[in-house]
Amino acid sequence: MRKWIRILFLGGYQFAYTKIARPLIFRNNPQQAHEKTLQLLRGLDERKWTYPLLKMTHGAAFQVRPIEVGGVRLAHPMILAAGFVKGQGFGNEDEALSAVDQTIIPGWRSMPLLVGAVEFGSFTRWPRMGNTGTAIWRDVPTQSTQNRIGLKNPGAQAAAEFLARRKKALPLVFGINIAVSPGVTDAEQEKCEVVESIAFFLARGIRPAWLTLNLSCPNTEDDPGAHQTASRARDLCHAVVELVQDIPLWVKIGPDLADQQYQALLRIFEETKVRAVIATNTLGQPTPDNLNITAGVGGGKLHSKAVEVVKLLMAEKQRQGYQLDIIGCGGVMDGQTYADFTRHGIKAMQYWSALVYRGPLVAAIIQHEKDTYGIGNSD
Ligand SMILES: Cc1cc2nc3c(=O)[nH]c(=O)nc-3n(C[C@H](O)[C@H](O)[C@H](O)COP(=O)(O)O)c2cc1C
Repeated sequence: MRKWIRILFLGGYQFAYTKIARPLIFRNNPQQAHEKTLQLLRGLDERKWTYPLLKMTHGAAFQVRPIEVGGVRLAHPMILAAGFVKGQGFGNEDEALSAVDQTIIPGWRSMPLLVGAVEFGSFTRWPRMGNTGTAIWRDVPTQSTQNRIGLKNPGAQAAAEFLARRKKALPLVFGINIAVSPGVTDAEQEKCEVVESIAFFLARGIRPAWLTLNLSCPNTEDDPGAHQTASRARDLCHAVVELVQDIPLWVKIGPDLADQQYQALLRIFEETKVRAVIATNTLGQPTPDNLNITAGVGGGKLHSKAVEVVKLLMAEKQRQGYQLDIIGCGGVMDGQTYADFTRHGIKAMQYWSALVYRGPLVAAIIQHEKDTYGIGNSD
């Protein structure tokens, strides 16, 4: 009976999202659509009466499928990737800190209630305004996104303060993603910034279920085959694991490294006790408006590349007997693309573009598609 109610509910949701909500959303350009969505989430976050509704919607759509990945127990194998619940940009830390009583991280409350596990961030040591001009594109035929948001965020200190003031309402399971500031080239400064960023959260009593170190922007993608990158990654991961102790550390890597670099990085991650690798972040490609500017592609256009990387990492993990887990990310849009990852032994996945094309309950729909059509049942 419950199963049929779920099927009917998801069917109605799919119809409503594809036929009504998405056409309305897509009337706006991608950037406006993103901003308006965040505005809507801010409204939901600030109105307590919405919480039971969001929770009920989650309960109706999602089936509990507990899995353990990277030292974390999740109720469901799909995690909303970093970059959606990350907060607004600020010009400096004082401004960001003075705004923490307002909802500077829209979606912090509503998205976990609605979709389950969410990775907050990326947060950088200092606030960032992000890039000006067009920063998000979509390519509807391939169900892809492209962005050069430029790590817009309120900075780690304000993010930690914001979450600390709302600690009692934080979800039980969520992740925090920390990125190195673009432009920082000195390895020591990079390490200092990452350690300081994490320390802000710990000092304010914010202990996420996992912590992700975003190594894919910019210090690995730009540097395929570089051995220095491997030594930097070792140093960074070692310092972070020492600091966070029992909070599992995950790292997020790019889709465009040389095979040997993936192998070297995987060895380093295993040695430094990283618990999971998220593969992958977006793929740098020229933007539709200006071929001289690159921006990260996600969704359909990233998918085969991300699966290739995952396949390589899983083969290496098995060959070497490594313990760490691999989490798939890149164009998980439906049961089929989900199965492209599970076929290689992947247990959990992250998604972002699917949210745009199939709406907030996409993770539940994908699970349903996978069950119904029996695809990729190797897990
Ligand atoms: C607008 C936008 C902003 C993003 N910001 C971040 C970010 O701050 N940190 C990060 O690690 N990934 C970020 N990502 C990358 C996503 O987390 C994800 O790795 C990527 O989109 C691939 O997943 P997908 O194919 O499901 O979109 C962002 C993606 C988009 C579309």
